[in-house]
Amino acid sequence: MTDNKELKRNTTAVIFSGWMKNALLLFSFFLLFTEKTEAQYPAEKVPDLEELFPVAKVACGPWIQAVGQNEFTVVWTTNVDAIVWVEVAPDDGTHFYAKERPKYYHSLYGRRVTGKLHRVPVTGLQKGTCYRYRIFQQALLLDKGNKRVVLGDPNGSDILKQLPYKVTTLNPDKNEIRFVMVNDIHANDSVFRQLTKNVHEDNTDFVVFNGDMLTQIESEQQIMDGYLNSACELFASEIPFYALRGNHENRGSFSYEFFNYFPAPGGNAYYAFRHGPAYFIFLDSGEDKPDSDVRFYGLSISDQFREEEAKWLEQVIESSEFKMSPVKIVFMHMPPTERGWHGTLEVERLFMPVLNKANIDLMLSGHIHKHSYIEKGEVNNNFPILINSNLWKTEVSVSSGSLKMQLIDASGKIRKEYSM
Ligand SMILES: [Fe+2]
Repeated sequence: MTDNKELKRNTTAVIFSGWMKNALLLFSFFLLFTEKTEAQYPAEKVPDLEELFPVAKVACGPWIQAVGQNEFTVVWTTNVDAIVWVEVAPDDGTHFYAKERPKYYHSLYGRRVTGKLHRVPVTGLQKGTCYRYRIFQQALLLDKGNKRVVLGDPNGSDILKQLPYKVTTLNPDKNEIRFVMVNDIHANDSVFRQLTKNVHEDNTDFVVFNGDMLTQIESEQQIMDGYLNSACELFASEIPFYALRGNHENRGSFSYEFFNYFPAPGGNAYYAFRHGPAYFIFLDSGEDKPDSDVRFYGLSISDQFREEEAKWLEQVIESSEFKMSPVKIVFMHMPPTERGWHGTLEVERLFMPVLNKANIDLMLSGHIHKHSYIEKGEVNNNFPILINSNLWKTEVSVSSGSLKMQLIDASGKIRKEYSM
């Protein structure tokens, strides 16, 4: 029995050993034929951090808006949705990093605003004072509402390789000021660049866009390409511009966004302020044709708008600040001279009687695309009206005793000069 058992065990061991050999052999063949090269094992894909966590960068700007004696607003756009802030320091020779600088935010009723267009009001400033500022943006990486919001790394404007931006508040005590006006650019960016290329180095206090900078406003890109990219490159990060609507800024599906890009002092389309010896009134002359015109598609209510504006204008000329200003200048896109068109007739009916009793020194207009100078009394006007060409700029120097105007073409040649 024992022998039989042992024989059985030995036989089983032999059979098992044979199987094992065969199995090992087969496994070796399997390894041999299934061995993979490095090329067959590509490196694990490294996540694109820029794609996962995009850094918010400036797409256009910043451009300075709504400068007053105690405030200014910084506006810019970013490549991705972001939240932003502005840090402000006095121009006192200290390093920007000398200490914590106050922060100002784009906010709405106590909440910070996310998006690609950013408007940051900086308030509580001193009149006639130069400030340095720096802009910051932080990408909105994830917005799951109340469940989770994730922000990216902050990214600020450079202050090491270049100086921080500077802006100066308005000053009623300044003895002499100078400003530049362009109008009716109609997206002619190359002419715009020629006309405004010296704004910065010429110590300009501000620039006025007196309407019709585009023929219609259909998109942000159109504003950028038409003049805003150039304005920011050339001067607008430090020299403010005031963008007054012409009739054409009322047109196009993006025209409703105009004041989000160009917030005006006081938050309305018409406004006024004092700088140096001059009081400036910016009047919005509205549309040129009757509101019922088929090209306005039932969207225009310029008549009602101008009626409201005329009431505001009556209040402005009664203010002591206006009355006490030695010089009084009015900007209005459509001059009261193109007789026969409805918009101009309304401007004549509503605004001119008010202005004629207000000791205005000068009205500056555009719209006609051709220069002319209308002497006092020519069109029931108690003050001269200077209409700038669409291809020229008007440079104005103001002191309490004089007004000097130079009309300069795109080549830099002085085409006309006036003084009062
Ligand atoms: Fe116009």
